[in-house]
Amino acid sequence: MDIELPNPGKYPKQISHDLKNAYFKHIGYEPHPGQRSFHDSSARMKILVAGARFGKSLAAAREVEPYILASNTRGWIVGPTYDLGSREFQYIFQSLIDDQQIETNRKSFSDRSMIIETTWNSFVEVRSAHNPISLLGEELDWLILSEAAQLSQTVYERFLRARLSTRIGKLIVPSTPNGFGWLYDMFIRGQDPDFPDFESWQFPTWANPLVAPEEIEAARKELLPHIFDEQYGGHFTKPAGLVYPEFQESIHVREEPEEEFCERYRAIDPGYRNPFAVVMVGRNFDGRYHVFAEYYQRERTTEDHIEFLRDAGRFDLTVIDPSAAQLIRDLRTAGITAIPGANDIQPGIDMIRSYLAIGPDGLPGLTVHPRCRHLINEFREYRYPSDFENPRLAELPLKENDHALDALRYLLMTLHQRGKL
Ligand SMILES: Nc1ncnc2c1ncn2[C@@H]1O[C@H](COP(=O)(O)OP(=O)(O)O)[C@@H](O)[C@H]1O
Ligand SMILES: [Mg+2]
Repeated sequence: MDIELPNPGKYPKQISHDLKNAYFKHIGYEPHPGQRSFHDSSARMKILVAGARFGKSLAAAREVEPYILASNTRGWIVGPTYDLGSREFQYIFQSLIDDQQIETNRKSFSDRSMIIETTWNSFVEVRSAHNPISLLGEELDWLILSEAAQLSQTVYERFLRARLSTRIGKLIVPSTPNGFGWLYDMFIRGQDPDFPDFESWQFPTWANPLVAPEEIEAARKELLPHIFDEQYGGHFTKPAGLVYPEFQESIHVREEPEEEFCERYRAIDPGYRNPFAVVMVGRNFDGRYHVFAEYYQRERTTEDHIEFLRDAGRFDLTVIDPSAAQLIRDLRTAGITAIPGANDIQPGIDMIRSYLAIGPDGLPGLTVHPRCRHLINEFREYRYPSDFENPRLAELPLKENDHALDALRYLLMTLHQRGKL
C-alpha cells in the first residue's frame, strides 16, 4: 500500500486511490469519515452537500491537489461571486505554495486575482459566475463549483458543462443546500443508478468531529428550525418564510394546450423601475387555470406597453392594479377596457394558495407554463420578512418579487367576485 510519491509535476493524469492516500498522508491531511467516503468514490461528478463547517471546501481542495501536481492540467474554482470561490483556493494555496513550496511561474492570491501557474504548466484559477463571460473558453481537467446552490443552473449548463467534455474533466460540487433548486436535482442524480458518473453525499455539520458540539447547540437555539436544518443539518428544506411554499415546479409548472381554454384573461401590474408585468391566463373546461404567457418589462414607455397589449390577441377580461388610474384612462383611449382588480393582499394570497392545492382529480387548480420564467421565479422567492424570527403570518410579505404575482392576484380576486371561481 505504501507507494513512492512522484515529484511535483510528475504525477500521473489518473490519480489512483493509493496515490491519493499516500499524498494525503504525506501532507498530513486526515479526512474524517464523511470526507473519507467522498474521497474514496471514483465517480467523475461528486456532489458534496453538507452543513456549514463540515469540511466541504477543504475536502474539495485536497481532492484536486494531486491533479495540479500532474503536468498540463487546468482547473477552475467557480463561485457565485469571486469571493465565494476563494475558500477552496486558499486551502490549495496554503498547501501547495506555503507548505510544499512547489515551483511556479505565476502565483497570486488577492481580491482581484487568484491564480497558480506551475512550472509544469498546470493552472488553477478562480472565476466568478457573476461575470459569465469570464467563464467562456477553456478545456478543464477539473472544476470545483463552490456553493453551487447559489449558482444559476444556466451558468452551469451554458458556460461550464462543455468545458469538461474534451478532457473528461472532473466536477466537484461542495455546497450547503439552499431550497429545491438545481443543486437538489444534481444531488438526486448522484443517488440515481441511471447516472453512474454522479455520486452525491449529504452530511450534517456534526459529521466533522472538529466542530464543537456547543457551537452547534448555540446555533440550534438561535435559528429557526428549518434554517438550522438546512445550514447545519445539511438537509434540503423549504423556508417557512415563503408565501407560496406549496408551489412546486414538478407539480405546477407544465404545458397545457391553449385549444382547451374556454376563456382567456390577462392582468396587469404596472411599473417602470419595477417591471411592468402582465400575466395571461386561460381557463379550462374543468375550471382550472393555466398561466400560458407573461410579459415582464422594465423601463419601457406606456406606448410600448399599450402596443403590446393591443396586439396580444383576444381576451375576455383585462384586470389591472386599481391604483393605476391614469393607465386605465390611457388604455381606454387605446380601445382596451381594463377592470380595476381587488387589492386585498391577504385574501388574494389565500385565493392563490387555494388554487395551488391539488384537487381530488390529482391536479392543481393553477398551473404555469415553463416559459413564464419571471412568474415562476416570483413564486419561489416571494416571502415574508425576516427568516430569522418567527414569520408572523399576519404581517404582509416583502414588496419584492411580487409583480407578476400581484397581477395574478388581482385577476383571481376579480374572477372570484364575478362568480367565475
Ligand atoms: N479533515 C480535517 N482535518 C483538519 N481540519 C479540518 C478537516 N476538515 C475540516 N477541517 C477544518 O474545519 C473547518 C471547516 O472546513 P471547511 O472546509 O472550510 O468547511 P465548509 O466548506 O464545509 O464550510 C476549517 O477550519 C477546516 O480547516
Ligand atoms: Mg466552504
